[in-house]
Amino acid sequence: MAERRRADRRGRRPAPPREDRGGGWTGREFEVEVGAVAHGGHCVARHEGRVVFVRHSLPGERVVVRVTEDRHPGFCRADAVEVLTAAPARVERPCPYSGPGKCGGCDWQHVDPAEQHRLKATVVREQLVRLGTLDAGDPVVAGLAVEPLPGGALRWRSRARFAVDRTGAPGLRRHRSHDVVVLDDCPITVEPAAAAVLRRSWPGAGAVDVSIDSTGAVTTTRLDRRGRPQSAAVLQAGEELPAAPAGRAERRAGGRDWEVEGTGFWQVHPAAADALVAAVAEFAAVRPAESVLDLYAGVGLFGGALAPAAGGQGRVVCVESDPAACAAADANLAHLPQAEVWQGEVEADGLTELLAELGSAPDVVVLDPPRAGAGPAVSRLLAGTGARAVVYVACDPAALGRDVAAFTGAGYRLAAVRGFDAFPMTQHVECVALLVPAGR
Ligand SMILES: C[S@@+](CC[C@H](N)C(=O)[O-])C[C@H]1O[C@@H](n2cnc3c(N)ncnc32)[C@H](O)[C@@H]1O
Repeated sequence: MAERRRADRRGRRPAPPREDRGGGWTGREFEVEVGAVAHGGHCVARHEGRVVFVRHSLPGERVVVRVTEDRHPGFCRADAVEVLTAAPARVERPCPYSGPGKCGGCDWQHVDPAEQHRLKATVVREQLVRLGTLDAGDPVVAGLAVEPLPGGALRWRSRARFAVDRTGAPGLRRHRSHDVVVLDDCPITVEPAAAAVLRRSWPGAGAVDVSIDSTGAVTTTRLDRRGRPQSAAVLQAGEELPAAPAGRAERRAGGRDWEVEGTGFWQVHPAAADALVAAVAEFAAVRPAESVLDLYAGVGLFGGALAPAAGGQGRVVCVESDPAACAAADANLAHLPQAEVWQGEVEADGLTELLAELGSAPDVVVLDPPRAGAGPAVSRLLAGTGARAVVYVACDPAALGRDVAAFTGAGYRLAAVRGFDAFPMTQHVECVALLVPAGR
């Protein structure tokens, strides 16, 4: 590792990953003019009539690329291995492990953070137009911005999964590879969490999950090679040895504490849950006595934050499939008599039954599905409720685009959307969208 870093500082190009050598254009080097940013943490260039997705580049740059993967007739993937004309937003990478052929954890380490926000906004707009079938001139689309969260672009990651190589050394995987790049730090991870995993060896483990909660307690969970949890430990702030087996972690958002199961879902950026709760509350604008459906509810974050506005005459139903998250949601919502937790899958049949059991249509629907999105069937069913507001929280702009198309096809319109840079240095972006019946 140390040798490779020295070589890079002298400007030598890193060797291509082993599994990508050979075949088609793989390994070829040529010059390109880099075009627009695209979804996936790369920019688009063209060479001899083919599309080349170029990582480690920026729009407007002239670079030498090395092709890293050529498996599709229409396009290949490449790394910019030499920058001939740099874009003004290019910066020195703060992480020594980032760059062509190195750790695949980050996509935009070479980009000024303000430009990262602009790139992400461009990607979200493009997905809303291409997949969401919206007009690029639509003021909601054209005005979309990605807002930074407090705390800067480094040391924000409060949860991470690190890979472990055959010798027990921890690290992260090379981009689109199973190779583990051994790390002794990860500058986007909160320091005590990175140190708890990366400053020791994990013989026999396949991966290690780590999280740090708002009290500073670090939980490490060792996983076997099939990704099954083997054992967990909690390190309280200031301690050097594990104090107790892992249990529930404390998180803070919306002015209160939340219990989260050690491995259960919680936003990775410490400021994200707060920012998303505020955006969801603004878009939902829940009124007294209204009914709210919080789908993919996790530990009840959005339902719990909206319940006080619905008041004692209101009703908030949180639906979540994971039993441990439901148990934490029960505890988090116990003091809110208008809130209920239902364990179940949000999918077409189950949702039809759930809507029938509710008895009346919800006034407001909040949904925060996993990366794949809610899908067209669920989106159409939700549009069928006629809810006056649908607030969609999305961690993948492509899924948001597809589901927006389903909603607009079923009589809704996109009334507002905000983006949040909840994952600085990476291609990822969190969006909150408001859909309302088209007539309103
Ligand atoms: C992106 S998280 C959102 C959690 C919560 N809204 C929050 O912000 O903390 C998605 C949640 O949906 C749950 N989930 C995934 N697929 C589901 C399904 N088909 N039905 C219900 N819940 C599901 C996951 O367990 C996870 O808790």
